[in-house]
Amino acid sequence: MAKMIRDEKSDPQNRLSFFAGFSKLSKNERFERLIEMGALTKEDVKFLKAGSPLEFELAENFIENVIGYFQLPMGVATNFVIDKKTKVIPMAVEETSIIAAASKTAKWIREHGEITTELLGKEIIGQIQFAKIKDQNEFLKVIEAHKSEWIEWANEEVALGLVRRGGGVTKITTRFIPREDGHLMAVVHVYADPCDAMGANIINQVCEFLKRPMEEKTGEKVTMCILSNLVDSRVTMAKVTLNGLDEELMEKIEEASIFAQLDPYRAATNNKGVLNGIDPILIATGNDWRAVEAGIHAYAARDGQYRSVTQWKRVGNQLIGTLHAPIVLGVVGGVTNLHPTAKMALKMLEVNSAEELSRICAAVGLVQNLGALRALTTVGIIEGHMKLHIKNLTLGAGAHEKEIPFVQKRLEEILSLQKRISLSHAIEALRELRAKAANDLKLSQ
Ligand code: MEV
Repeated sequence: MAKMIRDEKSDPQNRLSFFAGFSKLSKNERFERLIEMGALTKEDVKFLKAGSPLEFELAENFIENVIGYFQLPMGVATNFVIDKKTKVIPMAVEETSIIAAASKTAKWIREHGEITTELLGKEIIGQIQFAKIKDQNEFLKVIEAHKSEWIEWANEEVALGLVRRGGGVTKITTRFIPREDGHLMAVVHVYADPCDAMGANIINQVCEFLKRPMEEKTGEKVTMCILSNLVDSRVTMAKVTLNGLDEELMEKIEEASIFAQLDPYRAATNNKGVLNGIDPILIATGNDWRAVEAGIHAYAARDGQYRSVTQWKRVGNQLIGTLHAPIVLGVVGGVTNLHPTAKMALKMLEVNSAEELSRICAAVGLVQNLGALRALTTVGIIEGHMKLHIKNLTLGAGAHEKEIPFVQKRLEEILSLQKRISLSHAIEALRELRAKAANDLKLSQ
């Protein structure tokens, strides 16, 4: 068996067969499949089945005033082939239908095209603020004259570990920002390649280290140093190419994309849908999703208007979608290596670098966007959402295990007739069922 799995790993199409009918499997069958395809070990499954018990002390390594853990459901999105590699995507999220939509859309893409990704640029950015400078020309002259020695110095004193791993501080630039009070602000940007770390700590350390020499040489005063989350120097790109789609569908998706490019009200919702794909992976792998959210939204507004981070266009008989966004992540250090579930999620993704993880996130974000646009421009959002919502409503109404199939079936009937369902429909269906059962019992006595 082990040999067979190894062979399948080198043959994405064979490995994909493990996803067949995945959503219909029982919990135990799902685990078996994931073990068979090498995504989980037996130990992982034991840990997950036990409810992923975590030590109280572990939480105290992460945050302050700990009182416990907050658990989110974690599932896997299936059918993803990204850059020709089959991937199981772990997603920790509370929203119904995200994982189903991602898996369904990934399957559709597999049948009609492919997903490719690329990292455009490697460097993260640190900022050093000089709130009010006296002499712009002199300031720029001094920074330009000393920047090479500062880069070298920061690499020797602060970022030596990064340099040894092939990264480190690479560049220093200066921006001037006129202020409303008539003063001029200068902001020095320090660029560094963080390799496989997210790099927040190291870039902050570098900026704080450079503060004193910069103040001494320029004669100006630094106000603060901090990384920027608008990492437009390290943008991740994902591309979906689809062939042989219905002409009308392609046109509708293109129109939906134009809507999200031109109207910030729509762009916000479009990008929320993209983040439906990205955030759950960030959470599952222990990454800082607030940083990525802030960066993506700032990037979406970089020309002064908030726009979609995705674009869909017809090119000949193809539909081509792209996503560009800063997705700066880590696969070493912090929660990613200490939290057992995050470690398991990273292992499941088979990623060896921060770059690879960010490319997977970009791909899933773009696929999630396509799934939403396809639904919105055809059946509408309610149908798909509601179908998946039926189970929540059934449980919400208080149905017991044996009652669930009846209530679900009744809700499906109501949905197909009335195009909407609510908790009161589920309560009513349950009441009907219980009344009928009580009646049957009376008759049989
Ligand atoms: C819902 O979570 C996400 C959508 O609103 C995204 C979109 O409108 O593109 C469906």
